Amino acid sequence: MNRIGVLTSGGDAPGMNPCVRAVARTALFNKVEVSGIREGFRGLVQGEVRALSARDVGGILQRGGTFLQTARCPEFLERKGRVEALRTLHEAGIEGLVVIGGDGSMRGAHSLAEMGFPVVGVPASIDNDLLGTDMSLGVDTALNTIMEAVDKLRDTATSHQRAFVIETMGRSCGYLALCAGVVCGAEMILIPEREVTLEEVGQVVENAYARGKAHAVIIVAEGAMLKAQQVAAYLDSLDVGFETRVTILGHVQRGGSPSAFDRMLATRMGTRAVEALLAGETDVMVGLSGRDTVTVPLAKVLSAPRQPNLEYLEMARILAT
Ligand code: F6P
Repeated sequence: MNRIGVLTSGGDAPGMNPCVRAVARTALFNKVEVSGIREGFRGLVQGEVRALSARDVGGILQRGGTFLQTARCPEFLERKGRVEALRTLHEAGIEGLVVIGGDGSMRGAHSLAEMGFPVVGVPASIDNDLLGTDMSLGVDTALNTIMEAVDKLRDTATSHQRAFVIETMGRSCGYLALCAGVVCGAEMILIPEREVTLEEVGQVVENAYARGKAHAVIIVAEGAMLKAQQVAAYLDSLDVGFETRVTILGHVQRGGSPSAFDRMLATRMGTRAVEALLAGETDVMVGLSGRDTVTVPLAKVLSAPRQPNLEYLEMARILAT
């Protein structure tokens, strides 16, 4: 293999930059040229490719977002878009591709591989919803951002004796909300994987007040059946003793300098992705399994979403007494 390409696709995640750096420098170390593709699959369809030198990826290790930029690309879902992408790859002399992104990106990587092009994926999504890896890039940083925000909200909640309903991202996966609830000592955690009623939420908050708690923190995953505003309106209608406020954390969760964990994981996964491509592996994603990096067939990764550990719900409930 003389030249590989690298792209970041879907929602950005802290860790994408150190991963691109690791991909580029590992390839160059192995005497393989590197091309960076702008804006993910859209750049492939539109031919936005440029050579990357070791210097081009300098100074990005500590930066959030993705310097290659990213996009969601509906054209790539159509075969016509993928044929254009293959043309771009051939014209640029690219013989293998590293795709860094979430589930949609892994789906794109899989379809290119099925068309015969060598592709290795790296999981990067704050949602941590990809099967085949214990952690995706960006999750640890996002969780730390959420933790910092919830700690601050709790300061003001306690001061005013308020209930705070805080919405986290995660699309249809409750991982971020669940872990945030544990590490922030939330009174209740609402996730898509476990249905609860408004009455149950009300009861938990009433009990917390009755036990003399000075606040109630309720973390709601954006994909949960009950929505943050709905929960807050219900609590207000009960008049439990706490006033209620809502905070939607939003895209602040996606930004920021990658944590040490994410930089380490990104570096290991980027390096492993290039090694896998050079060893002739394709249609796989690099994953973290315990302490090891492994490669997992993309078909398996895409077979089902990753489920968070629901035992944490019970643990958080017991510890919130
Ligand atoms: O997949 C990452 C994610 O941040 C989800 O948690 C969220 O639902 C979605 O992307 C938001 O997408 P956008 O940035 O396109 O609004």
